[in-house]
Amino acid sequence: MTKSIGILTSGGDCPALNAAIRAVGKTAVHNYGWSVVGFLNGFRGLMENRTIALDGDSLSGILTVGGTILGTSRDKPHKMPVGGKVLDMTDAMVEVYHQNHLQALVCLGGGGTAKNAYRLAQKGINVINLPKTIDNDIYGTDISFGYDTALSIATEAIDRLHSTAHSHHRIIVVETMGHKVGWLALGAGIGGGADVVLIPEIPYDVDVVAEAIRQRVRRGKHFSIVAVAEGALSKNMAKELQEAHKQMAKDKNNPEASKAKARLADWESGRVGHTLRLAQQLEELTGRESRVTILGYVQRGGTPTPADRLLATRLGTACADFIAQDVFGALVAIRGSEVEAVPLKDIVGKLKYVPVEHSWLKCARRIGICMGDEVG
Ligand code: F6P
Repeated sequence: MTKSIGILTSGGDCPALNAAIRAVGKTAVHNYGWSVVGFLNGFRGLMENRTIALDGDSLSGILTVGGTILGTSRDKPHKMPVGGKVLDMTDAMVEVYHQNHLQALVCLGGGGTAKNAYRLAQKGINVINLPKTIDNDIYGTDISFGYDTALSIATEAIDRLHSTAHSHHRIIVVETMGHKVGWLALGAGIGGGADVVLIPEIPYDVDVVAEAIRQRVRRGKHFSIVAVAEGALSKNMAKELQEAHKQMAKDKNNPEASKAKARLADWESGRVGHTLRLAQQLEELTGRESRVTILGYVQRGGTPTPADRLLATRLGTACADFIAQDVFGALVAIRGSEVEAVPLKDIVGKLKYVPVEHSWLKCARRIGICMGDEVG
């Protein structure tokens, strides 16, 4: 019997999503003779049954195109805004899956998408996930597509900031994305030759950072580049966050739960502008003029690097092969040099942080990059 499969992209977009859609689709159509539909705008399109055919025509010419031809959203099946209310639409999505006579649903996304796909899997749908994110924080896979492109963009930005920082004898604080992990700041910081790299996994002391900059000045280096992950925390902030989480865990099943949640939300909103404040503090402590560059969404845009195209193509073709072997409820992951299907139940709710003993961190410290906890 001819199989029919569906594909959706969910969560923040990133380069190489189209390369992955193309790889799954072309393998499905050309190798297996299946029909493929794409759902528009993530899980919302699945709920609304908004589809496009993914055939020879629509799968062609998209390898190098950034973003996703399917559109995306952060909508969750069990918390879907519908007509002014937030509803659990999981069963409606299961129904659409069956209406389309699908034998598999491929979900391209990050950690949040894995959770949502797992919910659908628990309702009996054959789901399989592909790992995309510029943050590289998906547990269970060594790397996700989108990361290499964002890394190149952030590295090039740090390269370019050097000449202007040098000319004006300034501190330039450059913020990368990365959500709660530091892969992007650390990779681009090492690759771009930053002098200080601040990541969420290593809470920093601003006095230590200031001293590292002063030390550079004493060595005749009158500029400094500080690469800071958007989720980076000072030691005090890390303590406050830990407290807020403890409170949440304590209050989980009692009427205080919403208060603890609100406190955490308050804390999160207090983070806004953190990088600007850090630059101000460094200016005050060192007496050197400082400037801020927030790279933001530019890291998610544009054409994917060859490494990301290759990775997305390897994972996408393997995904179609796993579907042919009836392997479901899994993330198609890279482990070492192999592509493996890792059960979703083993990865949902987990984040891949930078381990404090990671070799990248060791080499950063060995070449004198200050990681915010010691001068370096
Ligand atoms: O997960 C990718 C990412 O770009 C993060 O680095 C960032 O924190 C977040 O998405 C931004 O989300 P949004 O696109 O919803 O603003």
